[in-house]
Amino acid sequence: MAGGKLQAPRGTFDVLPADAQRRDRLVELSAQVLEGAGYGRTETPVFEDTALFARGVGESTDIVQKEMFTFEDKGGRSLTLRPENTAGICRAYIEHGMHKLPQPVKLWSWGPFFRHEAPQAGRYRQFTQLDAEALGSDDPSLDAELIVLLAQILERSGVKARLLLSSLGNAETRAEYGEELHAHLRAHESELSDEVRARIDTNPLRAFDSDHPGTRAAMAEAPRLIDRLDAEDTVHFAEVRALLEEAGCAYELDHTLVRGLDYYTRTVFEFASDDLGAQSGVGGGGRYDGLVEKLGGPPTPGVGWAAGVERILLASQATTEGSAGTRAYVVVAKADERLRAFGLVNSLRAAGVTAEMEQAGRSFKGQMKQADRVGATHVVIVGDSLEVKDMHTGEQREVASLEDAVEAVGR
Ligand code: HAM
Repeated sequence: MAGGKLQAPRGTFDVLPADAQRRDRLVELSAQVLEGAGYGRTETPVFEDTALFARGVGESTDIVQKEMFTFEDKGGRSLTLRPENTAGICRAYIEHGMHKLPQPVKLWSWGPFFRHEAPQAGRYRQFTQLDAEALGSDDPSLDAELIVLLAQILERSGVKARLLLSSLGNAETRAEYGEELHAHLRAHESELSDEVRARIDTNPLRAFDSDHPGTRAAMAEAPRLIDRLDAEDTVHFAEVRALLEEAGCAYELDHTLVRGLDYYTRTVFEFASDDLGAQSGVGGGGRYDGLVEKLGGPPTPGVGWAAGVERILLASQATTEGSAGTRAYVVVAKADERLRAFGLVNSLRAAGVTAEMEQAGRSFKGQMKQADRVGATHVVIVGDSLEVKDMHTGEQREVASLEDAVEAVGR
């Protein structure tokens, strides 16, 4: 069948080898930082029951209302490609009875997530998140630890980001504050944007997110949740702040910080990079003390974050340094030496040396050029004689056997 040009679906991208290297390095670095703090890696499915996200993320959120890739399977079940990780992790915590383990249970993961958003730089329909969660304790040191760990990952990745911090208190405080805010919004209804006005009843907090000038003016005078926290939440937040200060982790208080997910209680935070333009959020998270219970588990506090791999790499100032270590290129100087060259490449690899050989029919000169292109530190020329060239010094010498060649390169 003749057809048009096939392209990757809108909002998706291919990862090609040069990018893959940077991604792998970021994941390795994150594994090091997180495993070093006792977080164990987990994987949950990329699709889950739609009900998990409706209940977990919240019916009134943009994610659930507009952005989920939802489909019916052949058995008529409604499934959704996961838009975020926290709901799935809580589901797994309940399903595997992890509340019976010593608490807190510390988990990290990375993988693809899906949101049907309008694509732009740094915003995709399939993207990759790094995620860390600590369940089963409301100790403020977990909030601070998680924030510090993400700050370390960002710093070591060469990302400069500001940490915005706030506290949303508990559900009761939020409900009371919600009524107060609701009354304020009703009193200023005519100044608000249509979108904010439509959500006065379902999600009044989102009004703080608006760019609309009238809404912003009305919100400047709005009551602040941070001023309404109860005594326990106030102490909790003060401890989180003291711990961050102790760790030398700078933050800015931002009482308008509203995250796009409904499950948050107490601490919320976001790392914003000025190098990213409109999509400035490189990572964010907070505490979700009611979520496990809401999903049918025992009352369980939790806190965590997710960071966007693509956004970290976009914001990263770190130059991509070439891969270090020895890299050999085996030049086939005579066509009938291909067998020997192939054997040599395998011996080099078995000895732990990154090695490649000529596989595209290049001339001798072309092969030497190719050795340069791949960044070879050593070239082994297999012809009538066997020669090893050190590409840094330019020194070239003959060796007696394949074993000697492996040794000369590996040394
Ligand atoms: P989130 O703020 O929705 O939080 O997403 C976390 C990060 O994922 C964002 O800061 C951003 O870097 C990246 N991200 C989100 N959407 C996109 C997109 N369309 N394209 C590219 N990157 C994107 C959560 O997902 C929560 N589950 C975080 C959390 C964990 N809270 C507690 N535990």
